[in-house]
Amino acid sequence: MPTHKLAGQAQPTTDTTQAVHAGEARFRAHHSLTVPIVQSAVYTFASTADLVAYTEDRLFWEAPEREEYGRYGNPTVRALEAKIAELEGAQDAIAVGSGMSAVTATLLLLLQPGQHFLLTDQCYPSTLEFSRKFLHRYGIDCTLVPFGDDQALTAAIRPETRLIFSESPTNPFMRCLDLERLVAIARRHQLLTVVDATFATPYNQRPLQFGVDLVLHSLTKYLGGHNDLMGGSVAGRFDLTTPLRQMQHLFGCLLAPQTAYLTLRGIKTLPLRVARQNESGLAVARFLEEHPKVRRVWYPLLESHPDYAVASATLRGGGGVVSFEVDGDGERAHRLIDALRIPTIGPSLGGVESMVSPLALMGYAMTPPEERLALGIRDELVRLCLGIEETDALLADLAQALDQI
Ligand SMILES: Cc1ncc(COP(=O)(O)O)c(C=O)c1O
Repeated sequence: MPTHKLAGQAQPTTDTTQAVHAGEARFRAHHSLTVPIVQSAVYTFASTADLVAYTEDRLFWEAPEREEYGRYGNPTVRALEAKIAELEGAQDAIAVGSGMSAVTATLLLLLQPGQHFLLTDQCYPSTLEFSRKFLHRYGIDCTLVPFGDDQALTAAIRPETRLIFSESPTNPFMRCLDLERLVAIARRHQLLTVVDATFATPYNQRPLQFGVDLVLHSLTKYLGGHNDLMGGSVAGRFDLTTPLRQMQHLFGCLLAPQTAYLTLRGIKTLPLRVARQNESGLAVARFLEEHPKVRRVWYPLLESHPDYAVASATLRGGGGVVSFEVDGDGERAHRLIDALRIPTIGPSLGGVESMVSPLALMGYAMTPPEERLALGIRDELVRLCLGIEETDALLADLAQALDQI
């Protein structure tokens, strides 16, 4: 199966050398090769003169020379932040305790009572709930705009609008934004742009290169990559990350040093893993699209996908998530899922193990049926999140499972 060539070669993405070495200082304690897990909440001072020097240094939040207290910083976490910043081509990155923490901290920092923001309508349900229900309590208003509709986006801008928030690619339909166009609209109206690029990863796309102001990740997914940690990150310019870091010190939404270490280790293999997931994603999407028992497939590098043009021009690969509708009802989709031998039923993605979700039962189970249908989440919709198993093994597994229904 041919692998996809990045049409937008002008937008370089991260490579393996960078993923392995970025952010990892050469000389460390005890000459250890790997970044040590610094398990300390407290950092001490030899003298008051030391303390004075540190206090002066601390005025420059951008590059502290040492730590004082665990809530203000940790060397293992800082190594991870430096790696993420380099991978994204950002001045700075902040690691937090989950992807949702990255979303909520960013919106709370950037928005004030009386302000308004735009959210594209295909997004993670918790982001939607936080934006529409929680922020509303604080006098912050959110308008949902149809994904990819520039006219609707522009029409929804008000004098008090401050930013545009979007995922790209989205969950579960893998809708992809034309980030250049998004940034052009935002700049015309002096708005900030925030993109949750969890599904892209810096291997497939680096949103900051298109002019986006902040890029967010759930580290829980591809960057951690092993379904064994929760984390989040926000990367961008110092003028945005510095106040966010100060807010983090107040809120205490931290990433623990062991988790930072696991994420550092996970990122080292990100390009290898995502390259395999890109290959399997495209092969599986093409296979399913041809299959008579499958009604519809969503994968950004299929010509039938609504955003194929922008995806093929700006993404290095389509990633490991393929959503499809079984030709039949929910019960038939469940039979297919139960017949699969490699993917396990679970709610996440981006890890080494393949996973499959009947989305009406998982992720959207608490959404009222009419709302769920309006979002396109039908009972027969299946989200397949491919791991790093061999592409042929995944294809053979799908073929045998489809034979059984
Ligand atoms: C696009 C996207 N953003 C954010 C999140 C939230 O991440 P976490 O579960 O790490 O809080 C998810 C989780 O699935 C997601 O898919």
